[in-house]
Amino acid sequence: MILDKLKLIFAVYQWKKHFKYDDDLVPPNERIFCGQADTDNFKEHGQVYVERFIRHCHLKPNEKILEVGCGIGRIAIPLAQYLKTGSYEGFDIVPHGIEWCQQKVATRYSNFNFQLADIYNKAYNPNGKFSASEYRFPYQNESFDFIFLTSIFTHMLPNDVENYLSEIERVLKKGGRCFITFFLWNEKTGKLVTHQKRKNKLTFQNDFGQYHLQDRSTPEIAIAYEEKFVKESYKKYNLSYY
Ligand SMILES: C[S@@+](CC[C@H](N)C(=O)[O-])C[C@H]1O[C@@H](n2cnc3c(N)ncnc32)[C@H](O)[C@@H]1O
Repeated sequence: MILDKLKLIFAVYQWKKHFKYDDDLVPPNERIFCGQADTDNFKEHGQVYVERFIRHCHLKPNEKILEVGCGIGRIAIPLAQYLKTGSYEGFDIVPHGIEWCQQKVATRYSNFNFQLADIYNKAYNPNGKFSASEYRFPYQNESFDFIFLTSIFTHMLPNDVENYLSEIERVLKKGGRCFITFFLWNEKTGKLVTHQKRKNKLTFQNDFGQYHLQDRSTPEIAIAYEEKFVKESYKKYNLSYY
């Protein structure tokens, strides 16, 4: 147990020691459409996630990885220096994000591949053709060791989330791992959000039972899910959590 932990700390240390951003891969502020439009923040967040994947999900450099909603490569860029003999597939619904990743990242790292999915999302792709609730991921069953979604289900409605979870179950290898972020609503976080003193922050005051919306007119701007809904959905699609 202790030895395993030490190995993970060493793996993170080794990766950080050799890691160096290639600034040509980092998009300029005006092209960044996820998180803050700021290159320093873009770089910092990308690295933090890779570190979490190694430390908490035991990601290995030889694994097969899927990123759902890869945006403009915030995580793919630092990951490319970790994934030596493994491979990466990423898809997203915003054309200029995918174009950037294809032109900048995939041309330098042949084990990285990016695809555009023309899926409707009122906030990100309002003219999209297909519905996320019916979309079949373009990959074979049991293809991936590790799948991650950072800040994706925070912008998707329940039927869409459920379909994506069933697709994740389909394309994840048996015993594979998945890292997913949510705005998680429970008694504690609900109180904190409702009574926060800071202004102009997310408050999710539109209560729809299973989920809470920041903005009724464009739900996909930000969606918080009841913890119970997330746990039950995981169970429904045979995904265990910790
Ligand atoms: C806040 S950004 C996060 C992007 C990336 N995961 C990151 O951490 O930099 C939200 C992303 O979700 C993507 N997205 C929204 N709906 C999606 C869907 N149905 N399928 C795949 N990606 C989706 C958007 O295009 C956008 O790139």
